[in-house]
Parts: sequence; structure tokens; C-alpha cells
Amino acid sequence: MLAELFLDASRACHVHSPLTHSLLVSAADDLARGGVTARVMAGAECDRQGTVPGLRFAGALHRLVLEGRAPTLAKHYPTAGGRPDLDTLWDDALPVLHEHTDELHALVTSTVVQTNEPGRSAPLFGGLQTATHLAAIEADRRATFPIRLLEVGASGGLNLRPHRIAYRADGVTYGDRHSPFVLDPRWTGRLPVDFTHNLRLVRRAGCDVNPVDVSTEDGRLHLSSFVWADQVARFERLQTALDLARLDPVPVQRATGPEWLADQLARPERDVLTVVWHSVVWQYASPADRAMGRAILADAAARATRMAPLALLVYEPRRTHMADKYEFQLLLKLWPAGVSLRLGTGVGHGIPFSWDTQPWS
Ligand SMILES: C[S@@+](CC[C@H](N)C(=O)[O-])C[C@H]1O[C@@H](n2cnc3c(N)ncnc32)[C@H](O)[C@@H]1O
Repeated sequence: MLAELFLDASRACHVHSPLTHSLLVSAADDLARGGVTARVMAGAECDRQGTVPGLRFAGALHRLVLEGRAPTLAKHYPTAGGRPDLDTLWDDALPVLHEHTDELHALVTSTVVQTNEPGRSAPLFGGLQTATHLAAIEADRRATFPIRLLEVGASGGLNLRPHRIAYRADGVTYGDRHSPFVLDPRWTGRLPVDFTHNLRLVRRAGCDVNPVDVSTEDGRLHLSSFVWADQVARFERLQTALDLARLDPVPVQRATGPEWLADQLARPERDVLTVVWHSVVWQYASPADRAMGRAILADAAARATRMAPLALLVYEPRRTHMADKYEFQLLLKLWPAGVSLRLGTGVGHGIPFSWDTQPWS
């Protein structure tokens, strides 16, 4: 039931975003009573849990606020200079929902959740360092491999520049020391390999079923709307990532993961490590796409050689041993080396992250 999915989403952001939590709890109640939220969400009644309709609802409202079209609500939104008052939030949301019902309905039914989170570049950076290091050992090479990075479900492609970011951890700066984009990745644990090597990304490409063109104001607004509105630091991080994307554009192709991967992986590339990467995409992909994606990757893995190695690097939520608990795991598979590792665990937005290498079966 849709109201239940809103409550699930509210629980997931309870600690990190009291504003979104409160909005979704009130909206769930309104949904159950057949209020205006039911009209905004009409047609989404049978959505799968993984598609998180509650976040589409919160994102659509946030978009109106960012556009300056919901001033009574904006006073609660820190990303618009406001301060949340959770006691009056829903009362101030209701007139906006009534006034913009059709537009909000169009937004929530035409989009998927597109939290393109540049914080995930931090685990990606470490995963790429590890993959290229292990591939070099397997190939008996002194120098690490240059990398071809292929991202499935790239959204606006904000994680296609992991080598252009400065990562400041424990008094050391990794990555691009001169970058205007500085991340404090809050790493703990033992790094799997030395991260001070220069990552060489010789080719980068991404696909998405709904690519976002971050060179446009509309694209920037779209991605900004999915940041929880009381997370100002994250919102600012996204703006910096969007600015970097302007300086270093990488187009994201409109395609489903499997069809795009089949094309990209058709020919192994020599003297390059090909890395297929996805983060927080799996839950949104259909079962058919998942099965097809696995088959295409298995086929490419069988053709990988020591001089044309292939890696799969993923950052996705996985169920833990505790019922109903999820953690985000960074997983690496490397062919033909036969490496299969869990490199560490973190939170949904990639920061903080704890390095802890374990076999992954
Ligand atoms: C939550 S966003 C994550 C974006 C990005 N990977 C990140 O971590 O910042 C999920 C993205 O997956 C895309 N997606 C879902 N199913 C897909 C599929 N079968 N093929 C390609 N992209 C897909 C969505 O359009 C959306 O942009």
C-alpha cells in the first residue's frame, strides 16, 4: 500500500532528515485518508517498494520550493534559507499541494528517484585504486592499468570524475590535489591498497534510462530537488559537483543498462582495465534487466584476459544478518584474476565509509 511505502521511506530518512521524515509521515496519513496526496500520487498505487514513491513526492515539492513558487513552504526549507518548524510544516504544505496538484502529479509520475550523489565518488575512488592495483599484479605489470569507466544508471553522471576530486583524509590529500571539489570522505579502517597513485581514467561513459543533462538549469534543478532539504552541506556538495561537471562534461547516453553494456563490452580493450560501476541502481532496475545485465557481464568476463581485464565495482544496499537492516557495501569482482571482495561498508551517500576487506561470495 502506498501509505506504507511512504512510511518506509520516512523511517529511512528519520535520523538524517527530520524535515523529510515529518513530511512523509503526514503525507502517509493524508494518503490513508484519501486527501490531496492521493491525487498527487494517483497512478503510483502499485509502485514497487524499491522505486521509493515517497522520495519522488518529497523531491517534487522541493523542486517547487527551489523554483521560488512555494514561499509559504520555503520558510521550512534550509536549502531555500528557511528553518523547519515541524509543528506547522504540513499545514503549510497543504495549500501548495492543492494549488499545484496537477503539476506535482506530473512530476511524481514522470520521474524516477534521481539522487545523483557525488559523495559516492569517495568509495568509487578507493575501489578503482584497488581494482587497478590488483589487475596489475595479475598481469605482472609494474605500472597500474589506465581505466575505462563504464557507469550504469549514471543519472547526471556526477560520479564520472572520481579522479578530479581531492579527498582529504587523516592529513593526506588523495586524488586531484588542485581540485576545486574537496571531499572529507571520513574514512576509517585500513585502506586496501595505497591510494596515492595517480588514477588514469582514459575513457568514461555512462548510461541511464532517464539521463539528466546537467549542463541545463532544468537538469541542475532536477538533481538538486532530490537532496533532502535540511541537508545543506550535501546540497552545497552537489552544487560543487555540478560546477565541476560543467568544466569537464561527460555525456550520459539514454539506454537501459543491459543493452548499453552489451554494446560497450562487445570488444575487450587491451592494456586498459575496464570497470563496470553502478551505485544505488539495482533496486530500481526491473528483474528482466538485472538478469540480462548479469548474463552480459558473465559473457564479457569469460572473454577478459590478463592484458584486457574486466572489473565489476558496485555500491549498493545489501541486507545484513539483522532482519530489516541494510548496509551499503562496496563490492569488487575482477576477471580473469578471480578476485571477489567486499572492500568495505558505508552509508547511502558514500560518506562516512569504513574500509574492511573481506571475501565476497
Ligand atoms: C538513485 S539513482 C542513482 C544515480 C547514481 N548511480 C548515483 O549513485 O548517484 C538511480 C538511477 O538508476 C537509473 N536506472 C534505473 N534502472 C535503470 C536501468 N535498468 N538501466 C539504466 N539506468 C537505470 C535511474 O534512472 C536513476 O538515474
